[in-house]
Amino acid sequence: MGPLVPVALVLTMACDEPASDPVPATPAEPFSSQLDRDAHSYANPDEVVVRHLDLDWDINFDQRTLSGTAVLLIERVADSAGTLLLDTRGLSISSVEVAGGAGVWLPAPFRLGDEDPILGTPLEVTLPEAVARVRIVYATSPDASGVQWLTPVQTAGKVHPFMFTQSQAIHARSWIPLQDSPGVRVTYRATVRTPAALRAVMSATNDAETLLDGEFTFEMLQPVPSYLIALAVGDLEFRAMTDRTGVYAEPTLVEAAAAEFDDTEAMMVVTERLYGPYRWDRYDLLVLPPSFPFGGMENPRLTFATPTVIAGDKSLVALVAHELAHSWSGNLVTNATWRDFWLNEGFTVYLERRIVEEVFGRARAEMEAALDRDVLTAELARLDGQDQILHVDLVGRDPDDGFTQVPYLKGELFLRLLEQWFGRDRFDSFLRGYFDHFAFRSIVTDDFVVYLNQHLLADGTDLAQVLQIDAWLEQPGLPDNAPHSDSDALARVEAQAARWANGDAEVGRLDTDSWATQEWIYFLKSLPESLTAEQMVELDEVFGFTRAGNAEVVHQWLLIAIRNGYETAYSRLETYLVTIGRRKLIKPLYDELVRTPDGRARAEAIYQMARPGYHPIAASSIDEVLGR
Ligand code: BES
Ligand code: ZN
Repeated sequence: MGPLVPVALVLTMACDEPASDPVPATPAEPFSSQLDRDAHSYANPDEVVVRHLDLDWDINFDQRTLSGTAVLLIERVADSAGTLLLDTRGLSISSVEVAGGAGVWLPAPFRLGDEDPILGTPLEVTLPEAVARVRIVYATSPDASGVQWLTPVQTAGKVHPFMFTQSQAIHARSWIPLQDSPGVRVTYRATVRTPAALRAVMSATNDAETLLDGEFTFEMLQPVPSYLIALAVGDLEFRAMTDRTGVYAEPTLVEAAAAEFDDTEAMMVVTERLYGPYRWDRYDLLVLPPSFPFGGMENPRLTFATPTVIAGDKSLVALVAHELAHSWSGNLVTNATWRDFWLNEGFTVYLERRIVEEVFGRARAEMEAALDRDVLTAELARLDGQDQILHVDLVGRDPDDGFTQVPYLKGELFLRLLEQWFGRDRFDSFLRGYFDHFAFRSIVTDDFVVYLNQHLLADGTDLAQVLQIDAWLEQPGLPDNAPHSDSDALARVEAQAARWANGDAEVGRLDTDSWATQEWIYFLKSLPESLTAEQMVELDEVFGFTRAGNAEVVHQWLLIAIRNGYETAYSRLETYLVTIGRRKLIKPLYDELVRTPDGRARAEAIYQMARPGYHPIAASSIDEVLGR
């Protein structure tokens, strides 16, 4: 920790309303998670733990700040605890006060440590005895890593500004001073003041009927980790889908979004049948402007989603299955540190596939698994051994850079192995029991292993060895018992692509009438690396890839276009990169561009235009590609 920062003692004493009354705190049963320190937080929850937040903010679009107060309800875990350590990044803190249960606010000594480029700045508050609440008055920085401020031009409606937060993995600290570790769960209440006519929504109770009068209140009474606290403000309308599902989106998008996500209720019914009750009451989706850096983010009660998933034919809604699945694998049972991220994502991809299979059929689930198998193979070929490990070591690294496809896809294969070994019925009830057992807790990999040993591996001696559990969790590469991911449909597509590439069939003769999006994507992936100018023209004339509407299909096509210097597609490439900010869709295009000098020049020129519209997370990834 750095030198003492002078603290201006201009603090007022105020008698405040009594503390709100949060849901009973998480019981402190000693999972080993409590022994594994989170390498990405300065907080000291082993001494003092924050249980609840009362938040009050003004949203200022002109200054690009969120400002106001955070009241933290704390509980001493260690008797001797005399300081509270919080995570912050770029916050301007104007005062810190402390109070007893319902008592008077008194200024508290605090100091900010040195800023770490990854972790931000620790805030150390000295706690007198019998303190139950800490009040921090603060404002965010205009370039907070967890907040994106959009001008009207960057929205669908072009009239109103828009802002949204993205806290995962360690960005909550850039807009709230808190214990920013997934091992700490809090309940929260919030009041948000916005410019007139705009609507604020949060990962909490949202009242679709509320007046747009510039003030909104929210409650999240189930304890959630900090990375799931989320806020968005914009010109948002609501459309109900069923009595517990609905969509928030800009007015011009809301109809299309509700139609696209029409199967959400069916997905919920399936997931509840397999894995137990949905414990978050409502499930709504928020469609963000296209600069949203991810496909989806599982903010509780309100998944945040990219508009690029609205293809018009429901072909990309596995993403909804995925984010919904996190309501069990992640939001209910959470990784306690970021090295246990596979517990969130591996389980979620497994659940996602099961949901897709139930709602859209086995062939679709198999196609998605087979596509991902190739993604994993490519990812493993690219990564160092250390990063191929599920229980990955992220010490000293930014989790944003450490996250790869490994926790998702190797994690899913591991669970599928267990499913195949023990049978679906057995494995389904195992998972259901696991979600119940660890509900509303944060756990580490070892907690899972202990539970696995007790429940499934107790079946026979040496099962852990037979199944190579240690190799799956702690070693690089894929163990030789990894399940296969075969898709008959994709095998037929591959054969057709080969026939065309070998000159055995003309494009027009290919049998593509019944192809789903996943088959088109695989077709494009199955084409030879290098194609002639005539072949590119032929493909484009017959199938119209350059002007296709599906963002994933266009993405695959643009990769091929760059690789083969197909200039006809360049203007689409430019529009694509300037309007879309979803990292997964844009980064591979920049990667492909920088492989040649001409491409690099084009990438630089496009990035010049595009960068101001990108989210800080996407911009920092592309900066790296371009060596900025
Ligand atoms: N929770 C993740 C997104 C995330 C991960 C944000 C790590 C920040 C850090 C979300 O559930 C996710 O995995 N989204 C995927 C889509 C999914 C269908 C694989 C994405 O955004 O691409
Ligand atoms: Zn996920």
